[in-house]
Parts: sequence; C-alpha cells; structure tokens
Amino acid sequence: MLRTKQTKFFVAIVVCVGVCSIFNQHWWMRWLEPLGLTKQQYNIAGQITSKTFLTRNDVKHIIVDNEKDCKNRRFLVFQCSSSCGGWGDRQKGSVSAFLLSLMTSRSFIINITTPCDVENILKPAMYNWTMCKRYVQETLNKDPTRNLPLGWTNGHVIYRDRIKEYESLWNTQIVTINLNFYILDEIREFRLAENRLQWVFDTIDSEVIRMILQALYAPRLRLSSELNNYIHKMTKNGQMLVCNHIRTGRNPTIPHDTEQRFYDLSTIFNFLEQYHDVSKYVIYVASDSDSVRDAAAKRFKNFANLNRKIIHVDRFDEVETPNDLCEGFYTALFEQYILSRCDVLVLTRSNFGCLAAYLRGKSEGLFIYDKDKDLIIPSNLTNVQTVYNFD
Ligand SMILES: *[C@@H]1O[C@H](CO)[C@@H](O)[C@H](O)[C@H]1NC(C)=O
Ligand SMILES: *[C@@H]1O[C@H](CO)[C@@H](O)[C@H](O)[C@H]1NC(C)=O
Ligand SMILES: *[C@@H]1O[C@H](CO)[C@@H](O)[C@H](O)[C@H]1NC(C)=O
Repeated sequence: MLRTKQTKFFVAIVVCVGVCSIFNQHWWMRWLEPLGLTKQQYNIAGQITSKTFLTRNDVKHIIVDNEKDCKNRRFLVFQCSSSCGGWGDRQKGSVSAFLLSLMTSRSFIINITTPCDVENILKPAMYNWTMCKRYVQETLNKDPTRNLPLGWTNGHVIYRDRIKEYESLWNTQIVTINLNFYILDEIREFRLAENRLQWVFDTIDSEVIRMILQALYAPRLRLSSELNNYIHKMTKNGQMLVCNHIRTGRNPTIPHDTEQRFYDLSTIFNFLEQYHDVSKYVIYVASDSDSVRDAAAKRFKNFANLNRKIIHVDRFDEVETPNDLCEGFYTALFEQYILSRCDVLVLTRSNFGCLAAYLRGKSEGLFIYDKDKDLIIPSNLTNVQTVYNFD
C-alpha cells in the first residue's frame, strides 16, 4: 500500500517536471529568481560581473511561436528607413522600442533598411524580431489604417511625454516607431512596468542596455567568423588588445557630418605610449577619420586597424554605390564588436563607443577622454554616462 503511494507520488513529480519543461523551457528559472540568481551577479567588490542575460521567460508575453498566431497579435515595429542616425542612435532606439513593446505587450519587429537591410549583417539573437515581419508587411500594404506611425519619418518627433499617452493613443494593431534616445527613466515610472519589467528596476542602465542588445542582435556567420579570425590573428602571440575610439565628426573622410569635434591627439597618443611594447600589446585605433588612423599608424609600431573604407551609415556621400554603403555599414558593426572585446578601451565622446563599452560589459580597463580637462581619466560603466550624458 505504502509502496504504491510513494510510487504514485514519484510518478506525479516526474510527469509534472516533464510537462512543465515542455511548456516552458526555463521553468526552473522561476525558482531561482527570488534568490536574485538569474539576473545580476556581483563580485566581492560589489561590481556587476556581467554574467547575465535576458531569458525567454523575461519576454515570453511577446514571443510568437507560430506564424499562424501573427494575426492575433499586436506589434511594435522599430522603423529606420531614413534619417535615423548612426549605428549608436539605432542601438539606442531599438533598446527603447523593445522596452516599450515589452511594456505594452506588443510583439517586436526591427525594420532597419538603410543603407541596406540590417539582416544582411546581423540576425536575431534570443528574441526573434523577424517573426511575423512578412505578416506585418502584408497588413501594412493592404490596410495602412491598421498602423499608427510615430517618429521622424512622419515629420514629427515623438517627444518623451507622448510615449506616456500610449494607453489612449496606441489603439492600432501595428505601431511603427522611430526614435533615437533612451527612455529607461520614463519606463521605470510606468505602473505597468512594475510587473512586466521588474528586472529593469533591479539593473543598472548600462546592463539593461547590454542585456537588450545581446537579446536582439547577433552577428551573422560572415561577421562572426571574420571577427573571430581578425582578433585571433591580431593577438596570436598572446598580446593584450588596447583600443581607442576617436570620433572626430566632420572631416574629409565624412564631409557631411553635422558636428565637428576636435581632439588633441597628443594627449591620447601620449596615454597610449605606455602600451608601445610590441610583444605585449596591440593598439587598435578605430576612427571616423583617415588622418587619425594615419597618424596612429606612424606613431605606433603595434598599430592595427581593419583598414576598410570608413562610411558613416547615416551621412554618406551620394556617390557611394549601394554595395559600398552596405559594406560601410558592415565595417561600422565589425569595428564596434572589436571594441567590445578589448582588454583596454579608451573612448572619446560618442554613442557608438559608449555602446561598445556597454557591450564589453565591464569597467576594468575603461578610460575616457575628458575634453574640458584635456585628460584621459579612468572610468566605469556608470561614470561614462555621467560624464558624456547621452540622452
Ligand atoms: C525567426 O522567425 C522566422 C520566421 O518564422 C524564421 O524564418 C527564422 O528562422 C527565425 N530566426 C531565428 C534566428 O530563430
Ligand atoms: C520596412 O521599411 C520599408 C522601407 O521604408 C517599408 O517599405 C516596409 O513597409 C517596412 N516593413 C515593415 C514590416 O514595417
Ligand atoms: C565610477 O567612477 C566614479 C568616478 O571616478 C566614481 O565616483 C564611482 O564610485 C565609480 N563607481 C563604481 C561602481 O566603481
């Protein structure tokens, strides 16, 4: 009698575990979450060690598993087909749009088509933002009234306050949005976010941004293999990778940039001098200016660069061919992934570089150039944002 009861109990548990696993790949995560073990991990010094990722469980309310379900869903499309800024702006915009879609329970789609479709270079990572894209495309073509377009592409900027009106305004099946700023603080003020986005409250901004970017974007095979080969080749004798991103703005390489930023290269180069030992270090200099690269190549024997053509993905010369433009886009992404893997990273003020630091996910070896003081200062993931203050 007793034996049968025990057996029944045992069978019940086995069945339950099996069924739970089928319905939710990460069912066991729920047991860990109250302990805070799946999100942030801190080392003894209290620094976040960046071992954490978003899981399907965090986004399950917007996942569509089957194309047949598309018609029953609501969508938020991150739209970038004209004037949506450089890659840094687009990363910021897609992070914000993804948070909005999680908060409003709309499945998320990315539609970056300029200078070529981002799907040529990147693919969805944990969250599949191409799911239902065809359905949304067909719906937009058939019945444009099912779309509420928000953003620059439609002649007006959505201001932060207008996002707050989403409950009354967002009543269409599809909302397409084009934005290029962070809305983390705004998100944390929404009542709805408290149950749908609890992890955003427990996590520092740079980590929220990294976790979302890693959940959305992964390099396609060409980029991931070229990236790994390149880094392996550069550091094949075990050298440390010391990187510097110098964004100069308008210069002969990118004549149409809006902003001109001057840097005294001598301060930055003098700082890099401590890494001149060819046997120990490789100095990678990423820049939007050919003359900066040339100067670095002259100064450092251990200089490295991809030596590919520089193109700002949003401010290109009309004479570039479509293929050159797409290759320029590829180069920009390639370079950001390299920066995200450096042992030492020295930044000048730029979204693109700052996001590379977030993707890199650690404060050790992070330095920033302070233009006012004309000094390189040791930094950390919170401090970068405090000093450079990107919106
Ligand atoms: C995403 O969904 C699309 C459409 O169902 C599918 O073709 C594609 O393979 C999926 N991509 C990934 C990375 O899972
Ligand atoms: C993607 O953008 C292109 C170019 O603006 C547009 O024609 C298309 O309708 C968009 N597709 C989706 C799914 O939003
Ligand atoms: C980050 O850097 C700033 C400025 O140096 C410092 O005040 C702050 O304590 C640092 N934060 C962490 C977590 O190390």
